[in-house]
Amino acid sequence: MTKRSSVSTDRWCEQSKIDLEHRYQFLVESVEDYAIFMLDPSGCVQTWNPGGQRIKGYASAEIIGRHFSVFYTDDDIAVGKPQALLEAALARVHVEDEGLRVRKDGSTFWANVVITAVTGPEGELLGFAKVTRDMTERRRLEELERLQARAAVMEQARESERKRIARELHDDLGQRLSALKMALAVHEKQIWQQGAEISDQIDAMTESLRRIAADLRPPCLDDLGLTAALEWLADSFQRRYGIKVRLAVHGEPEGLNELTVLSLYRIVQEALSNVARHSRASEVSIDLSKDDLFCRLRMSDNGVGLPPGEKLRSDAFGLVGMRERAAQIGGDLQISGRPGNGVHLNLLIPVQGLKGAAR
Ligand SMILES: Nc1ncnc2c1ncn2[C@@H]1O[C@H](COP(=O)(O)OP(=O)(O)O)[C@@H](O)[C@H]1O
Ligand SMILES: [Mg+2]
Repeated sequence: MTKRSSVSTDRWCEQSKIDLEHRYQFLVESVEDYAIFMLDPSGCVQTWNPGGQRIKGYASAEIIGRHFSVFYTDDDIAVGKPQALLEAALARVHVEDEGLRVRKDGSTFWANVVITAVTGPEGELLGFAKVTRDMTERRRLEELERLQARAAVMEQARESERKRIARELHDDLGQRLSALKMALAVHEKQIWQQGAEISDQIDAMTESLRRIAADLRPPCLDDLGLTAALEWLADSFQRRYGIKVRLAVHGEPEGLNELTVLSLYRIVQEALSNVARHSRASEVSIDLSKDDLFCRLRMSDNGVGLPPGEKLRSDAFGLVGMRERAAQIGGDLQISGRPGNGVHLNLLIPVQGLKGAAR
């Protein structure tokens, strides 16, 4: 009786194991969003599911028996990535990777891949379980979100630029106009005798107007190029704020394309405006150089440096805007400045990365 009962328990266990395997098989068969399949120890595909067919385009009969490196790009194969992933799964049981994978028709998609080494009771390697998920859509949405966030930052930067212009117009031209109006009221009768004073004020206003317009779009940038525009910027900054500017240009920055020239100019302009507003520096140096590999811009002031812990205001878009401009032209902008040690900007742009005929 005991024996019979043990036999029936074994059968029951066997039966439920088969049920479980069927259910598991059914689960894998019904999943369409993930490619779930087994590889043998050498990396050849052993099983396939509808998700695999949907994502990678192969029917079971076309892929079973083939090495899983067919899912990888030529570049990945050249550096031995498929084998390296299997080895990593063997060493760590489980490995996760994200990257480009190749469909049957040769097109590529962005995949998240998890490979798990499957071992038997004695620890012997039975193969690998591989789960692949197509992340193309998710990545596209992330990219879209990133672009939207970047557009918002650019819009904020434009807004603060508009604010700056409004402030300049109000503080500078507005005050000069008020003064002119008062002078007119006071001297209404002797207007002709006071003609010279009024004419001086009009000259000063014209000068302000020129300066504000030139800040918006420096005319010499188009006509004379970056070096001349930077010389003009440095000179007018020095005269306006009494802060010494040392400008040095090496190499031939004039060969740069239009977007790069404008971005470099705007970065220097914003950095100088920060020097005037925040640094309490007496001197600022600007170094621009270009060789066959890199265009490099370095700026340093001898002022108070950045606030401790770089706790910057959330509405401070100047530094963010500078980084955005740098990223737009493929450059990397490092900004540093320990308190008391001045602020230092280091912008490196690989010349190869510059688009357009003129680099
Ligand atoms: N050259 C500098 N010297 C000292 N502090 C600076 C300098 N440049 C930037 N900062 C600090 O970084 C902050 C952020 O600068 P920024 O993003 O241009 O915004 P904003 O100029 O509108 O304050 C400034 O508020 C200031 O505290
Ligand atoms: Mg600023």
